[in-house]
Amino acid sequence: MSLIDLINTPLRVFLQFCIFLSIQGNVYGGGDGAPPLDIDYRMDESTNFTYNPKSPLVYCSYLPFEFLNCSDPLDLNGNQSERQRLGYGCTKWGGEKYEEVEITKVVCEVFPGIECYGNRTFLKDGFPCIKYNGHYFVTTLIYSVLLGFLGMDRFCLGHTGTAVGKLLTLGGLGIWWIIDVILLVTGRLNPADESNWVPYY
Ligand SMILES: *[C@@H]1O[C@H](CO)[C@@H](O)[C@H](O)[C@H]1NC(C)=O
Ligand SMILES: *[C@@H]1O[C@H](CO)[C@@H](O)[C@H](O)[C@H]1NC(C)=O
Ligand SMILES: *[C@@H]1O[C@H](CO)[C@@H](O)[C@H](O)[C@H]1NC(C)=O
Ligand SMILES: *[C@@H]1O[C@H](CO)[C@@H](O)[C@H](O)[C@H]1NC(C)=O
Repeated sequence: MSLIDLINTPLRVFLQFCIFLSIQGNVYGGGDGAPPLDIDYRMDESTNFTYNPKSPLVYCSYLPFEFLNCSDPLDLNGNQSERQRLGYGCTKWGGEKYEEVEITKVVCEVFPGIECYGNRTFLKDGFPCIKYNGHYFVTTLIYSVLLGFLGMDRFCLGHTGTAVGKLLTLGGLGIWWIIDVILLVTGRLNPADESNWVPYY
């Protein structure tokens, strides 16, 4: 028997015993370790319900989004201190990569007729700070290539000031026209209202 086995075997027996205990606790509901920590088992003042883990009713805040009428994310217009105070809301919109997109909580209300435990209005986490205002990437690219000398791409994206400049200079005599196509393809030219490209064409 090697040294590894000497340590490994008792460790494995111990782990299996722990798993056995936790399964016992979960299946029969009585174990001390069984209840999830974030569920409040006290009586809920708003509904006068006491949560019963064996009941078919789930906790309202555990329902998936299909059962909830959620508000749009709160727009804080970049106000960081307000975000700190509330603990939710969007200080910026969109982003190219998943990691760049801010995640916020939104106020959700369970649809009438859906039974569940607890407060039916609550904050649910995991909502991305993304909005769509009907800007399509392919359409904008076609505008940029074909009508870039008239500034049509910038007009459509809401960059009206630079669009007028582009129109008056006939696309910077062709140079700005080309540069904007490159900016668009590389993701540096986006809708002025911080909305995302609509993900279908
Ligand atoms: C239910 O939760 C919402 C949001 O957290 C809160 O504003 C409201 O006061 C709660 N209602 C009751 C009756 O506790
Ligand atoms: C919950 O119970 C208390 C005391 O019995 C009562 O005053 C209150 O109105 C009840 N709340 C609801 C939502 O039924
Ligand atoms: C969702 O909630 C809002 C605000 O409370 C309400 O105006 C709207 O009708 C609700 N939508 C549905 C589908 O019930
Ligand atoms: C952020 O919001 C708070 C509360 O509405 C306000 O007092 C504060 O002036 C705002 N800050 C900025 C930078 O807009």
